[in-house]
Amino acid sequence: MANPSLLILAGDGIGPEVMAEVKKIIGWMGAKRGVHFDVSEDLVGGCAYDKHGTPLHDDTMAKAQAVDAVLLGAVGGPKYDVLDFSVKPERGLLRLRKEMDLFSNLRPAQCFDALADFSSLKKEVVAGLDIVIVRELTSGVYFGEPRGIFKEGNERVGINTQRYTESEIARVARSAFELARKRNNKVCSMEKANVMESGILWREVVQEVHDREYPDVALTHMYADNGAMQLCRWPKQFDVIVTDNLFGDVLSDMAAMLTGSLGMLPSASLGLPMANGRPKALYEPVHGSAPDIAGQGKANPIACILSFAMALRYSFGMGEDATRVEKAVEKVLADGVRTADLMGPEGGTPVSTTQMGDAIIAALDASL
Ligand code: IPM
Ligand code: MG
Repeated sequence: MANPSLLILAGDGIGPEVMAEVKKIIGWMGAKRGVHFDVSEDLVGGCAYDKHGTPLHDDTMAKAQAVDAVLLGAVGGPKYDVLDFSVKPERGLLRLRKEMDLFSNLRPAQCFDALADFSSLKKEVVAGLDIVIVRELTSGVYFGEPRGIFKEGNERVGINTQRYTESEIARVARSAFELARKRNNKVCSMEKANVMESGILWREVVQEVHDREYPDVALTHMYADNGAMQLCRWPKQFDVIVTDNLFGDVLSDMAAMLTGSLGMLPSASLGLPMANGRPKALYEPVHGSAPDIAGQGKANPIACILSFAMALRYSFGMGEDATRVEKAVEKVLADGVRTADLMGPEGGTPVSTTQMGDAIIAALDASL
């Protein structure tokens, strides 16, 4: 059988630095576990714009459609702020999500014991936290029409449209219920059914899918603003949260910070199964391109490495190796290995991006 294929799109800012550490793990999988990947690389975001005048070349899009999984670093940077909206680095990422139809975005927020002190919340509120936000990723206000800036009388009006069809809601609800069944069997759905019709439909459809197909899963509904408040107050009440594209964007940044550092959080964006049974998939850290620290060897590669672990689990059925990578990360953190973002007020000497990657490789070796 052919090796599983990966397309690496390291992108901008710290993307290439953190992805370099993922490549070490991919190499390790080949050398020590006999699992070989066919890896190709290409450009996305600002670097693609610099070369091709577009943040995602059609050839790159075609490659992404053809591989078993895409690994993405990060896109964007201040240099590109002046670009027209249509060619901004983020458009490259949004095109990948839309054209690959990656409707289910899994964003776990897990608080490692060694980092419980880092959260801006009290230790007892976050210690042991393990939740997943399932964010709808290909519809809603990010893509709804009409959109644009128009002239209305003698002033301009900016318009975006929140739009969800029943089938779009149902399919992301299903993926949340499926995930919950493998975890603690609880789903909380968040919308604003008190002010938005799309929220009313969201709530109804999630409930219908539940009653028809997943009655065994405990389902609750919450207004998204209350959800934000509850995430700060007592996040451990949640297991799986399912929500729309925009609320999911905001709530997942918040959930990320509960764990102490945005530099820790991976994500998987999954679509429909391909002919080989694997879902269309893109894996990327939740953090951005961090232009302020790019090129300085300060970035934390853990989110990107954990994203690769998610690829092992969700694309390649290698749950055991995924756990092995996650345990290696846990081990180095427990040993006190810290990149700059994980330095507490008590200080200490941070390790570089490369040193963190090497420490994780050493922990992987020790796991054999
Ligand atoms: C995210 C990011 C993106 C989003 C940006 C970079 C387009 O914030 O993945 O959360 O808004 O979806
Ligand atoms: Mg975001």
